[in-house]
Amino acid sequence: MSSGYKTIKFELRGKVAWVILNRPEVRNAFNSEMISELSSLFAEINERDDIRVVVLTGEGKAFCAGADLKWMGDVLNYSYEENLEDSKNLAEMFYHINNCPFPIIARVNGAAIGGGCGLVAVCDMVIASDKAQFSLSEVKLGLVPACISPYVIRRMGDKNAREYFLTGERIGIEKALAAGLVNEAVAEDKLDAAVDRRVKQLLSSGPKALAWCKQLLKNVPSMPEKEAGEYTAEVIAKLRMGDEGQEGMKAFFEKRKPNWYEE
Ligand code: COA
Repeated sequence: MSSGYKTIKFELRGKVAWVILNRPEVRNAFNSEMISELSSLFAEINERDDIRVVVLTGEGKAFCAGADLKWMGDVLNYSYEENLEDSKNLAEMFYHINNCPFPIIARVNGAAIGGGCGLVAVCDMVIASDKAQFSLSEVKLGLVPACISPYVIRRMGDKNAREYFLTGERIGIEKALAAGLVNEAVAEDKLDAAVDRRVKQLLSSGPKALAWCKQLLKNVPSMPEKEAGEYTAEVIAKLRMGDEGQEGMKAFFEKRKPNWYEE
C-alpha cells in the first residue's frame, strides 16, 4: 500500500480501511493532488484481499467542501484540453470509488458541498452528523455537478436531483434524509458508535456476497428484463456452488457461525 499521501490518510484498523480526507484547513476541499491520491488509493484498495469494509470520512470540522476554490483560480486560465484532462481525473477517481468491491460507509462528520456530495453519493451507506449540511452549489458558480451526476442522480432519484441541482439549496439533515442522500443521522458524539454498528453488520456477511451485491446494484438497473433474468440466475447459481455460499448454508444447518464471521 502506498504511503506518504499528503492530502489523505489511510489506516487499516483490523479489516476496516479508513480513508480520511486530510486538508482540514480548507475543509477537505479537492485539489488535483487530492483527486489523484484518492484515485490511486482506491485503485489499490480495490485489489486487496485483507480488507472487508471501507470507511470514508473527513478530518476536522467538515466532510468535504467540494472543489478547492483557490485551486479553481488556476483553472480560470486552463485551455479546453487542460480542463478536459483535469475533469477526466475527477471522473476516474469516482470510477475507482464506485468500483470498490467492499462496502463503503461515508462517515459524514460535517458539511458535504458540491463534489463532497458526490463523494457521499458514491458510498454504499451514509451515516451523518445531525449538524451536517449538504449542497449541490455548483450552479452558484456558473458550473454544474457534472462528473458526480451519475452517482448523485442514482442516489437521490430524478425528483430530488432536479430540485437540488437546479436550486443549489443548502440543506440540513432532515432534507438530506428525505432526499435519500443520507441513511442515518446521529448526534456528532454518536457517529463512531453508529459506524461501528454498521461495520459489525457488514463483517457478519459473506465478503464475496457483499461484492456481488454491489455488482447487482451496479449492473441490473440498466439491463433489459430478459438479460437481467439470465444474468441474475447465473450469478446466484455460481454463488450457491461457491465456497462462500456452501459454507454459509452449511453453517446455518450446523447451527454455527460461518468462517468469515467476525465479532
Ligand atoms: N475551497 C477552498 N477553500 C475553502 C473551501 C473550498 N471549497 N471551503 C472552505 N474553504 C476555506 C475557507 O476559505 C476558509 O479559509 P481561511 O481560513 O483561509 O479563511 C477555511 O476553509 C474555513 O472556512 P469556513 O467557511 O470558515 O469554515 P466553516 O467550518 O464555517 O464552514 C463550509 C465550512 C464547508 C460549510 C464552508 O466553508 C463553505 O460553504 N465552503 C464553500 C463550499 C463551496 O462552495 N464549494 C464549492 C462547491 S462547487
